[in-house]
Amino acid sequence: MWLYLALAVLLYFVIRSYRERQQVDNLREKYVFITGCDSGFGNQLARQLDAQGLRVLAACLTQKGAQELERLTSDRLKTTLLDVTSTESIEAATIWVKECVGNKGLWGLVNNAGIAYPVSPNEWLTKEDYIKVLNVNLIGLIDVTLHMLPLVKKARGRVVNMSSIVGRLSTMGGGYCPSKYGVEAFSDSLRREIHPFGVSVAIIEPGYFRTSMTDIPKNLEILEQQWIKVPEEIKESYGRPYFDAFYEMFKYNLATRCCTDLYMVTDCMQHALISKYPHTRYSAGWDSRWIFIPLSYLPTSIIDFVLTRSAPKPAQAL
Ligand SMILES: NC(=O)c1ccc[n+]([C@@H]2O[C@H](COP(=O)([O-])OP(=O)(O)OC[C@H]3O[C@@H](n4cnc5c(N)ncnc54)[C@H](OP(=O)(O)O)[C@@H]3O)[C@@H](O)[C@H]2O)c1
Repeated sequence: MWLYLALAVLLYFVIRSYRERQQVDNLREKYVFITGCDSGFGNQLARQLDAQGLRVLAACLTQKGAQELERLTSDRLKTTLLDVTSTESIEAATIWVKECVGNKGLWGLVNNAGIAYPVSPNEWLTKEDYIKVLNVNLIGLIDVTLHMLPLVKKARGRVVNMSSIVGRLSTMGGGYCPSKYGVEAFSDSLRREIHPFGVSVAIIEPGYFRTSMTDIPKNLEILEQQWIKVPEEIKESYGRPYFDAFYEMFKYNLATRCCTDLYMVTDCMQHALISKYPHTRYSAGWDSRWIFIPLSYLPTSIIDFVLTRSAPKPAQAL
């Protein structure tokens, strides 16, 4: 009996691994549009897909980022400038993509652009701080998707949306976690609606990775600036020792938690784009797969305990 069971398990993994490696045909004729290609995952994915022979349409926020990417890639890869917070900019990018893809349509739309700061206890922030992050990570992503969707439907292609483990488990204050929860919600409803048109939607949920978003000096500088702006009454309720402890904890987490192997994420994005059997969700990174996603299924009281057990205590805590 045990032998049959072992053989069945083995067979399952062999079939699964075979399925995982099946790719769609004609990669060289497939167009993929990626936002936020100046740096980080977007930049690496653009170079990776270009090397695979796909036709990459890379959107950068800056001219410098676009020029640098063009320098490192083949003539197939084309760049444009895109600020996802501007509808005019998205409209211009959509016209450009339409011209590039002709009647083939757009095989892949990768919504990758994002920002994280400011990250701090919620009470230290203003409405504008939230709007800034939500505008890029959520509203920008939705706006780009709504503009590009007819082109993706034409190709019966794929939408790949960059979320995060913090779209499953809110670990910090600021607009970043709400923006990623929003990405999850938008992607889930879109997937169900768009499936009848032959379009798939994949959600990427990376853990912590070393990119310019997790740059330590930049994050710490923004945290310090944020503290200066906190109203006196709120400052008193937390106290300077709280800020110092929070600062050190933030610094320690950024320094020790970030994985440097960005391929763990871009390989998932690539799979979502070119596999015959793309997944709905990709847990990218060890921390995502083995800590944060499993933790997100536990009762809230346990999650709260785990996430707050080593947090500093505010001066006026009861
Ligand atoms: N790093 C992580 O640990 C981590 C974990 C989970 C999820 N993510 C997600 O992964 C995605 C990529 O981030 P990353 O880690 O690769 O960081 P990154 O290197 O900072 O990349 C973000 C990219 O978005 C661009 N961007 C910023 N604002 C934009 C705007 N308004 N319009 C268009 N592009 C804009 C940036 O351009 P500039 O470089 O010119 O500013 C940059 O190219 C983000 O959605 C992020 O939330 C990151």
